[in-house]
Amino acid sequence: MNTIGILKEPFEDKRVCLLPEAVKKITNLGVRVVFESRLGDGLNIPDKEYINAGAQCYSIEKIYEEADVICSINHRFNGEKLIRDLNFIGIFNPLFHIEELSRYNQFASIYSLDLLPRSTIAQNMDVLSSMASLAGYKALLLAANYSNSCLPMFTTAAGTIKPAKVLILGAGVAGLQAIATAKRMGAIVEAFDVRSSAEEEVRSLGAKFIQVEGSSESSAAGGYAVIQSEDFQNKQQNLIHNHAIEADIIISTANIPGRKAPLLLKKHTVEQMKKGSVIIDLASEQGGNCELTQNNKTIQQNGVTIIGNSHLSRTIPEAASRLLSNNFFNYISLFIKEPNHELIKATQVIKKGQTSHPKLQEKLTLIN
Ligand code: NAI
Repeated sequence: MNTIGILKEPFEDKRVCLLPEAVKKITNLGVRVVFESRLGDGLNIPDKEYINAGAQCYSIEKIYEEADVICSINHRFNGEKLIRDLNFIGIFNPLFHIEELSRYNQFASIYSLDLLPRSTIAQNMDVLSSMASLAGYKALLLAANYSNSCLPMFTTAAGTIKPAKVLILGAGVAGLQAIATAKRMGAIVEAFDVRSSAEEEVRSLGAKFIQVEGSSESSAAGGYAVIQSEDFQNKQQNLIHNHAIEADIIISTANIPGRKAPLLLKKHTVEQMKKGSVIIDLASEQGGNCELTQNNKTIQQNGVTIIGNSHLSRTIPEAASRLLSNNFFNYISLFIKEPNHELIKATQVIKKGQTSHPKLQEKLTLIN
């Protein structure tokens, strides 16, 4: 590989996939870096810092002409005419954005970092964990901001205010970070998950674990949750209902890779929740855990605020870019040194215009 191009993200995303420090490390590996002008505008990083790190500032057309690899967090491809092999690396959520993939032609190979296995060797490239961790933290802050009460207990001469009750649905990376943040802020926290291994993690953070007997788990799922039986889902919704109507804040994060997010909070539950309570639905891009969630919107229902946002890490772009930049650098180093490494293969969605990922092939078969 000779040249890596870095593209600026869409207006609503101030993050960058590679900071100047990482660019310097890439050029030290003997690879040229070219970048789109004003790449770091959202973080107040001037072009000069990327140039000082050894990169060259190019127009987007020239990047397409000269790069072998193009990096961006989001899809930036707009149907440009590709006339030679070009690799795209990003976080493309391909199982939910299949239509965008069809725009690329036979010269394009696409690698999506969200498809990395959740294994020890992939940990330093794990963009999902990096972003989920920040999102879990920010979800709690956002909820506290929208809530019309306070999280810790207040004992004053004028009386006592009880601590807020926080319910976390899905105790994976985001959920655990939300629990830790809520505990630090003095709230009473309960959490729910279908993976039995989550119980110990929830308890170790000082929260109460609530569960329904009879959940399904599969060792083939790579540590992820699997779809639950209808009977289980009904029991689960009833149990969650009883806890939700007592909660002041609900952070929902439950996901099953490549599938619609499980429905955990029904409309009738929201209607019985306390006025002034807040739901932050981090699974909104995958359909949401709450029946009333609208993706990328904040709505009010019977005095309950419901925020659907699967990209909260974008609201802390400096911290997010710092983690992403390390993740992207580690991945790119492997891509340069061992392009046929099992981790690189696991992330390949499209190889020269053809679908190459088994999960995507399976999804396309189901659609057609
Ligand atoms: P995720 O974003 O796919 O899902 C979030 C949480 O929702 C998970 O804990 C999942 O069990 C839960 N969930 C799914 N369906 C549910 C339902 N019906 N009701 C309640 N909860 C439900 O998961 P995430 O956070 O990305 O983590 C997935 C797994 O990967 C976890 O076991 C995590 O510990 C593991 N992991 C391992 C890493 C490593 O070894 N390098 C790195 C990061 C995560």
